[in-house]
Amino acid sequence: MSPTGDDRTRAGGGDLGRQETIIGVSEAMRRVLRLVEKIAPTETTVLLTGESGTGKEKVARFLHLQSGRASGPFIAVNAAAIPEGLIESELFGHVRGAFTDARDRKRGYFEMADGGTLFLDEIAETSPLVQVKLLRVLQEREVRPVGSDFALKVDLRIIAATNRDLRSAMAAGRFRDDLFYRLNVFSIHLPPLRERQDDIPFLANYFLELIGERTGRTFRGISEPALAFLVNYAWPGNARELENAVERAAALADGPWIMPRDLPPEVSEHGLPLLTEGHAPPLADNLTLEQVEAWYIRRVLEREKGNQTLAAQLLGISRSTLWRKVKLYHLQDVVR
Ligand SMILES: Nc1ncnc2c1ncn2[C@@H]1O[C@H](COP(=O)(O)OP(=O)(O)OP(=O)(O)O)[C@@H](O)[C@H]1O
Ligand SMILES: [Mg+2]
Repeated sequence: MSPTGDDRTRAGGGDLGRQETIIGVSEAMRRVLRLVEKIAPTETTVLLTGESGTGKEKVARFLHLQSGRASGPFIAVNAAAIPEGLIESELFGHVRGAFTDARDRKRGYFEMADGGTLFLDEIAETSPLVQVKLLRVLQEREVRPVGSDFALKVDLRIIAATNRDLRSAMAAGRFRDDLFYRLNVFSIHLPPLRERQDDIPFLANYFLELIGERTGRTFRGISEPALAFLVNYAWPGNARELENAVERAAALADGPWIMPRDLPPEVSEHGLPLLTEGHAPPLADNLTLEQVEAWYIRRVLEREKGNQTLAAQLLGISRSTLWRKVKLYHLQDVVR
């Protein structure tokens, strides 16, 4: 691996291209990235856990691209999305005439992933029958297409993912424990975004850069007050929700900076909930002084309905100093 740039904050910056970069500056994410980089070149089966949108598929692709199988296929299968009746033939293929509609021999995902990596997403959603079949493939490293009397050797690495707690699914009898232990050879948990607020500004700017590349627009970045909102929002949909919010904001932004007014209402309304309640902000203890200052000036300006003379008096600074800060923090949208 040859990460370029700041390899303390990113994994895979080098030959993988921007798309595959994994952002992680928080202590929690750095721990994850250390594991990921260690385990990538091995053949080990990996189980990725974490809430929806925390980056499980991203990490799975990274593991593949950093492995000896990188030139082989990466096949992602969403186990929850395949209709129960089709799942066997989708996973294992079928022979001609296996059932009424089987006019041709069809390769399943396991065969397609031969020589590469098979990513089994939402593994907790598989039926008991499919679980038995998966277990057998994992044990024997061969698949039997539906209707066939032969087995095919497959050479692939399995990466499974779930946003459920597999242990409680096991306890409830919904997930086989023998399959769990086959998959859980090495597990990596991706922490929710609200537990790694330090990553938010980096992720947000990364998404903005990608959007800029895609749309051909040039963005300078996300303004400090907008960042303060992003950092303080809880992101139940994690990185995916942040990505969508940045995309929406980029579409709405008039200039090269993302402003608070460009953010989705749930972010700007609940991101700093106490802004409207009138007492001290629930500030994360990782904001810079500038972020706090930008936040507070915005709050005062909003309370004074954009009147700079009143706001300057309240803040104990001159009108010209206030104006300078308004420009510095891109607060023009709240002044009158
Ligand atoms: N650490 C990260 N650095 C850069 N991009 C990230 C990171 N984490 C997630 N993303 C991006 O966020 C989006 C959601 O990530 P991904 O699809 O991997 O999540 P997931 O855990 O598979 O979600 P789900 O459970 O909903 O399928 C993707 O566009 C992904 O590229
Ligand atoms: Mg996913």
